[in-house]
Amino acid sequence: MSTERLTAKRKAEILNSVKERYRAVASDPTGHFCYPVGRESAVGLGYEPEWLNAVPAEVVDRFVGVGNPFSVRRPVKGQSVLDVGCGSGLDAFVAAALVGADGRSVGVDMAPEMLEWPKRAVAAGTLGNIEFREGSVEELPFEDESFDLVISNGVLNLVPDKDAAFQEMHRVLRPGGSFAAADLLVVASIPADVLTDVDAWST
Ligand SMILES: C[S@@+](CC[C@H](N)C(=O)[O-])C[C@H]1O[C@@H](n2cnc3c(N)ncnc32)[C@H](O)[C@@H]1O
Repeated sequence: MSTERLTAKRKAEILNSVKERYRAVASDPTGHFCYPVGRESAVGLGYEPEWLNAVPAEVVDRFVGVGNPFSVRRPVKGQSVLDVGCGSGLDAFVAAALVGADGRSVGVDMAPEMLEWPKRAVAAGTLGNIEFREGSVEELPFEDESFDLVISNGVLNLVPDKDAAFQEMHRVLRPGGSFAAADLLVVASIPADVLTDVDAWST
């Protein structure tokens, strides 16, 4: 389904469908995906056990990423990282540990329910370099050139206006900054009945 052919009404329907699905995922992440989720998935994707051990179990349990952006680009001490579509925030927590106290890690997601656990963990913990914000990838609530690295895991396939998402991620990156994403790619033509099924966007 090309972005150009989507009407504003259709985009709103897709965003609503995605939000609905992730409201349910936040409550119980099992049974929604055709791939593994949680700690087992993260270990299989190469996340280091000590990264996972430093993050609250409720956050790790709700990891529903499709890859490991840190295998593409690993942030270093002092950098600022934005995790777009952060979900329950595992990647943002890993980034916070990697950039250290002089760095900054921010997670943004449009589904407030997905942000509940990470926000709770931040409030209960002592990490001063991490924050979570509600917002859309298509209209990021950040200043131009705010981040050294933008990461994303399993999100862009869900976004109806991909051009807007890429423009926004580019806008908030500093000159010379990096982008590292893991995502699902279409490698064959999509059947017509799937193209017209709004809920297929979020499955
Ligand atoms: C497959 S989950 C991945 C979550 C997280 N990155 C992870 O690895 O566990 C996709 C996430 O993207 C978020 N999302 C989808 N479309 C979005 C958009 N347009 N703006 C912000 N977040 C979005 C969903 O709410 C959901 O939390």
